[in-house]
Amino acid sequence: MAQILSSISSGISHTNSVENGYTDLDWDNIGYGVTPTDYMYMMKCSKDEEFIDGQLIPYGNVELSPAAGVLNYGQGLFEGIKARRREDGRIVLFRPDENALRMKVGAERMCMPSPSVDQFIDAVKKSALANKRWIPPPGKGSLYIRPLLLGTGPILGMSPAPEYTFLIYVTPVRNCYFKEGSTGLHLYVEDQFHRAFRGGAGYVKSITNYAPVLKPLTNAKDRGFSDVLYLDSVSGKYIEEVSSCNIFIVKDKTISTPATNGTILPGVTRKSMIEIARDIGFKVEERQISVEELLEADEAFCTGTAVVVVPVGSVTYQAQRVEYKTTNINSVSERLLSTYDAILNGQLGGKNTGWLVEIN
Ligand SMILES: Cc1ncc(COP(=O)(O)O)c(C=O)c1O
Repeated sequence: MAQILSSISSGISHTNSVENGYTDLDWDNIGYGVTPTDYMYMMKCSKDEEFIDGQLIPYGNVELSPAAGVLNYGQGLFEGIKARRREDGRIVLFRPDENALRMKVGAERMCMPSPSVDQFIDAVKKSALANKRWIPPPGKGSLYIRPLLLGTGPILGMSPAPEYTFLIYVTPVRNCYFKEGSTGLHLYVEDQFHRAFRGGAGYVKSITNYAPVLKPLTNAKDRGFSDVLYLDSVSGKYIEEVSSCNIFIVKDKTISTPATNGTILPGVTRKSMIEIARDIGFKVEERQISVEELLEADEAFCTGTAVVVVPVGSVTYQAQRVEYKTTNINSVSERLLSTYDAILNGQLGGKNTGWLVEIN
């Protein structure tokens, strides 16, 4: 059996003391980078087996065969979940079963075995608890949990790798991925590069979807934009999603978002916001949305685990730039965000209570 991921060479030493259960990070200035934590989780299985037992191991570098499927052919998936510490001292995850199911769908597409939903949630909980001192104080941020499913066995021919590794690492992050946060994102509508195409893998969180967007994303950032909004690759007329979040528009009190038809990642936050919006009385449509409709919308916002709900401040398409008001405290995005926060903080009972998984 291939000796993959067999040695953990941490090389990382934590000098942080633990005060009141926290590590001594500057909690008021958490960034959105990788801060090494204490433990990571690892579970392996071979191609025709199921995952059985995983374990927590010290956080550190991993050793891989140079012929690993993930390194050569991009056979890999990732997920993103946040653990948040509440004022009442509880630590909660938001709908981790949805991430587990999405990983299963992705694994099927990428010819990989996947952990069961229970194994996935158990591993996520263990990873967060083992790194509890890195979970930011209430309101200061969250512990970003990154599950990976990788083809780690060596393979030269074009076939699924002979061995797989499910790995989870965690890192503390600030509340919103974008520094712009509530002041609004400035999106560049990309009409040259596409993120996904019909029959491809745009609907799963495959690592192969992300490297190709670095070029348009870097170009846009160099020009002062926050992120890129991609268009459908067939007609180039309809909006799809942003590099790491879904998009919604609001027109005359109706909320619309592009339908997930195989080229858009079905975001857990997207799905939750659709349900929340309907519950609080909005009409929500999932359908094709043209760029023109976006430019004429009353409001636009993005959703995702990393951003939660963030307003769009402007959209630039070819030579046209449209600005949206982002200071309205009665905006749809504000209402969705405050309902979401109330659910997370346990202030709303009812069906949404089942969305939270407590880990302590
Ligand atoms: C391309 C893309 N779209 C949308 C999302 C939002 O998904 P979620 O709400 O599950 O984080 C993400 C982030 O995971 C993403 O990478």
